[in-house]
Amino acid sequence: MKRIGVIGVGEIGRALVEGLCDAAGPTPEVFLSPRGARTAAGLSERFDGVHVCVDNQQVVDRADLIVVAVRRQDRHEALNGLRVDGGKVVVNVMAGVSNDDLRGMLATDAPLVRAIPLPSVRERRSVTVTHPAHPAADHETPAGNNERIRTTWFDHTNAATLDNALDGLLTDLRSRQDPSTEPAAEQKTEQEKTQEADAAQRRRPPART
Ligand SMILES: NC(=O)c1ccc[n+]([C@@H]2O[C@H](COP(=O)([O-])OP(=O)(O)OC[C@H]3O[C@@H](n4cnc5c(N)ncnc54)[C@H](OP(=O)(O)O)[C@@H]3O)[C@@H](O)[C@H]2O)c1
Repeated sequence: MKRIGVIGVGEIGRALVEGLCDAAGPTPEVFLSPRGARTAAGLSERFDGVHVCVDNQQVVDRADLIVVAVRRQDRHEALNGLRVDGGKVVVNVMAGVSNDDLRGMLATDAPLVRAIPLPSVRERRSVTVTHPAHPAADHETPAGNNERIRTTWFDHTNAATLDNALDGLLTDLRSRQDPSTEPAAEQKTEQEKTQEADAAQRRRPPART
């Protein structure tokens, strides 16, 4: 995405903008809401492609992807009445505000992605969890850890290994819930047999002297 809007330019909004604009290579155009005026003005002085808008609707109109980074209690004031067409993507970084809640406020069909950035996105040094996945939200820190993990770690072999590990975990969790799926005694590993023998030993009452 080339045009990114940020509504709520406080601690995390600023860190996101710095992470995006301090990177080597092409940087996006960024449109900031006017609240948090000193921070917004500082960012627009520092980075060529950063502009401060007159209001939150202008942020939405100028950007393809809009990050909502206001405090939970400020969300109604910041968002009610905004018109967001379905061709945009909205990234919700507000803790404790679900995408359903956000969709109710924005009344839009636009894809909504929930993200949990850390302040270290400023140096592109943290991984940001996003859900659901959306290609527009996957590159929020150019050449940062997210991109490195996607491109260097998720090759075919590692993805298959991760799949197997998760399947194993699921089977293990299910077998704990459903005793009928417990492995038969003869299928238990030597380590499991030893652990069970140790546990039985600990349960025995102490011998009388
Ligand atoms: N800080 C983190 O590490 C972090 C990490 C992940 C997620 N988050 C989430 O991100 C959100 C912001 O957190 P924060 O720590 O960055 O808070 P913050 O520093 O208080 O920043 C919030 C910003 O929103 C602005 N704002 C308030 N009302 C607004 C409105 N109507 N329109 C536009 N902007 C408005 C505030 O401006 P004024 O200063 O003028 O009030 C302030 O600049 C929270 O929901 C938090 O849960 C934070």
